[in-house]
Amino acid sequence: MQQTYKFVTAEEAASYVNNGDIIGFSGFTPAGCPKEVPTAIAKRAEAFHAEGKEFKVGMYTGASTGDSLDGALARANAILFRTPYQSNKDLRSALNDERAPYFDMHLSSIAPHLRFGFMPKPKFAIIEVCDITADGELVLTTGVGISPTICNLADHIIVELNHNHPKELRGFHDIFEPLDPPHRLPMTLLTPSDRMGSTVVKVDPKKILCVVETWRDDEVGGFTPTDEVTDKIGQNVANFLASEIKSGRIPEEFLPIQSGVGNIANAVMASLGTNPDIPTFEMYTEVIQDSVIELLRNGKIKFASGCSLTITTPILKELYKDLEFFRDKLVLRPQEMSNSPELARRLGLITINTALEADIFGNVNSTHVMGSKMMNGIGGSADFTRSAYISIFTTPSTAKKGNISAIVPMVSHVDQNEHSVNIIITEHGVADLRGKSPIQRAEEIIENCVDPAYQQILRDYLALSGPCHTPTDLHACFGMHTEFMKTGSMLGTNWENYK
Ligand code: COA
Repeated sequence: MQQTYKFVTAEEAASYVNNGDIIGFSGFTPAGCPKEVPTAIAKRAEAFHAEGKEFKVGMYTGASTGDSLDGALARANAILFRTPYQSNKDLRSALNDERAPYFDMHLSSIAPHLRFGFMPKPKFAIIEVCDITADGELVLTTGVGISPTICNLADHIIVELNHNHPKELRGFHDIFEPLDPPHRLPMTLLTPSDRMGSTVVKVDPKKILCVVETWRDDEVGGFTPTDEVTDKIGQNVANFLASEIKSGRIPEEFLPIQSGVGNIANAVMASLGTNPDIPTFEMYTEVIQDSVIELLRNGKIKFASGCSLTITTPILKELYKDLEFFRDKLVLRPQEMSNSPELARRLGLITINTALEADIFGNVNSTHVMGSKMMNGIGGSADFTRSAYISIFTTPSTAKKGNISAIVPMVSHVDQNEHSVNIIITEHGVADLRGKSPIQRAEEIIENCVDPAYQQILRDYLALSGPCHTPTDLHACFGMHTEFMKTGSMLGTNWENYK
């Protein structure tokens, strides 16, 4: 069957790509991303650059990718533009040094904005699959991302057939692309385990330019082991949710959980899994991380719907040995579905995401260090937060050995605003912002979440303003940030300098 397609090396596939071309890549996080062809494109770029010629490509991805994609193209200085979320250290340096123009978007918006023509359409879609049929059925691997949309929009599809993923993954995906307004119909899911799409991405076989075979694993990095701080944050989240069930504010059958990316999110999931007061639950989320697989195995999680299986290779290999156990417990969907605000609101998601910093009024910055250096991107955090049943943000109360307070008078960049953020949780405690005025929110956050070393500094900041609705001193509101920039620590912030 597959012989109907042209099988080529990664270098031959890359030779079709030219300076200025725009490419959409499959996958979501390193899960399901192509690996061979992007690396070959990076080498092609380096060869052009060595001859003094321009070579850059525009890049649409689902979210972050593996090092052989974002890392290779960043190091080759081959990026014309890049969106959305990324987390690669070389790409991070490139976009912060103005070598790679990067625009950060909500993950649910990429596919529709491409269809609407808000951004130029991709010429190529490079898609990793575990199986391909002669009539153009593509069985994706561990990440779905924007694959259906870029396959539809691209002129040409380059397939990476990855034999490290079993063909039996057919059936684990729920692929659906909505019609665009004014013809859009509701997404019909009523529970996380409902399905409404196809198990494959169906394309016109004539669009498949070539197929490259590979045996490379997903490049998912390991997680930092939990520590005292992340354990305490996890326990605080679990205890808060248990008390919400007791009070009747969360129904006793519980609600589906969305949990963000990174070390803290992984630790939070582990705590939810071990807390006896948290009932068994379902997940409707974007990234399914290692901790979720363990909880599916031991029955604490009944079902997980996501966009990717972002799990480390040893755990993925174990899962593949036991694929039939997981068949009715996991589904992978395009990010337009996994991150759909319509579905987040209907399903009543409890959303748990991570802040870099939050301010005393509840605005959250998850992306920009000191307002100017991009860390990763907004990801799906706002897709979920704004439409959540309860939106929670977690963060350690300090960073950089206590020299940065994660709670500041005003965030240096806003990703989520005070109207969408319900709960802030650090290792010190929980601030419940629901139904509170800005001053009451500030008191709640300072007394419950701020590190003791910074509590008085923030109380004193509040006192700087006279009577008003939201105590903001325009002169002093970034005083803790500027103190850190000057001295390497926020601890010496002195409001006398601002009077
Ligand atoms: N100022 C400066 N640096 C800070 C900081 C602050 N206020 N807060 C944290 N940091 C640094 C940490 O020191 C750490 O740096 P290091 O690795 O050099 O030590 C880094 O930021 C990451 O912090 P870490 O504690 O390891 O957090 P994490 O792995 O859980 O990631 C985010 C946290 C916010 C970066 C990550 O969750 C993210 O990218 N979120 C945005 C997207 C999102 O929410 N997606 C989920 C939607 S489903």
